[in-house]
Amino acid sequence: MRLRPADAPGAGVANRANILGYIGSTGAGKSASLKAALREARHARVLIWDPQDEYGHLAGQATGAVGRLLELVQAAGRGPFCIRFQPSSDLKTAAKQFDAFCRIAYAAGHCAVVAEELAFVTSASKAPPGWSLLNLKGRHKGLTIYGTTQRPARVDKDFFGNCTRIRCGRLNYATDQKTMADVIGVPVEAIGALLPLQYLEKDMATGNVVWGVVNPTGRQAPAKPWPGSNAQTPETGPPAKKKRVARA
Ligand SMILES: Nc1ncnc2c1ncn2[C@@H]1O[C@H](COP(=O)(O)OP(=O)(O)OP(=O)(O)O)[C@@H](O)[C@H]1O
Ligand SMILES: [Mg+2]
Repeated sequence: MRLRPADAPGAGVANRANILGYIGSTGAGKSASLKAALREARHARVLIWDPQDEYGHLAGQATGAVGRLLELVQAAGRGPFCIRFQPSSDLKTAAKQFDAFCRIAYAAGHCAVVAEELAFVTSASKAPPGWSLLNLKGRHKGLTIYGTTQRPARVDKDFFGNCTRIRCGRLNYATDQKTMADVIGVPVEAIGALLPLQYLEKDMATGNVVWGVVNPTGRQAPAKPWPGSNAQTPETGPPAKKKRVARA
């Protein structure tokens, strides 16, 4: 499947990976965070997997048919698009549609892909091949991937294993809290203590952890360094040298 003229071979090898995970129980602030990030990023080409029918304000075109999605992306060629896909409520059908949706995004290249509620279409032991393609090879195709889930313990490892930034909000289940404590590298109590709209966020490249509160209706307040983080960042720099105390 080729949906736009091919880039030169190896053209994407220097691209940086951009895979952003938003985790939390219902109402934790995942979609609000994601929408704020999307607005800020101003991607010219966006494909949205929209099972809750909540991205109408962002996406001009919508379809629930894989064939139509393919037509719309083909028609866009190298140009801009913002299309949301509304999957079937039948989970088996939705899983097949998700695989096709991901393959179309991969073939299109140079776009942002939003995948809302991954637990419905992936499992801890197996990712749909199209979704794996996005996570494992999407960097070379210039893709930015945004994924959300309420149940991290049920989501495939290809996603968490390649996330470049993970924002985790309130989680109710102990197994999910444990999964995210392991992924982010913080004590499970730090995840368990999060209230709705509060989050911990880890930059997986630097190991830096910050925390903050999502504003679902407007500008986002800047995140603050998490006191438990021991990662070195450009802001914090290396630990200060100890002053020598003159011995008497
Ligand atoms: N446009 C809005 N105006 C007012 N409140 C909002 C708006 N969008 C979200 N909220 C509130 O912010 C909170 C977080 O919403 P959000 O949609 O981000 O949750 P979520 O983590 O994506 O949950 P779910 O898994 O159910 O999709 C909810 O309490 C919701 O009522
Ligand atoms: Mg949501």
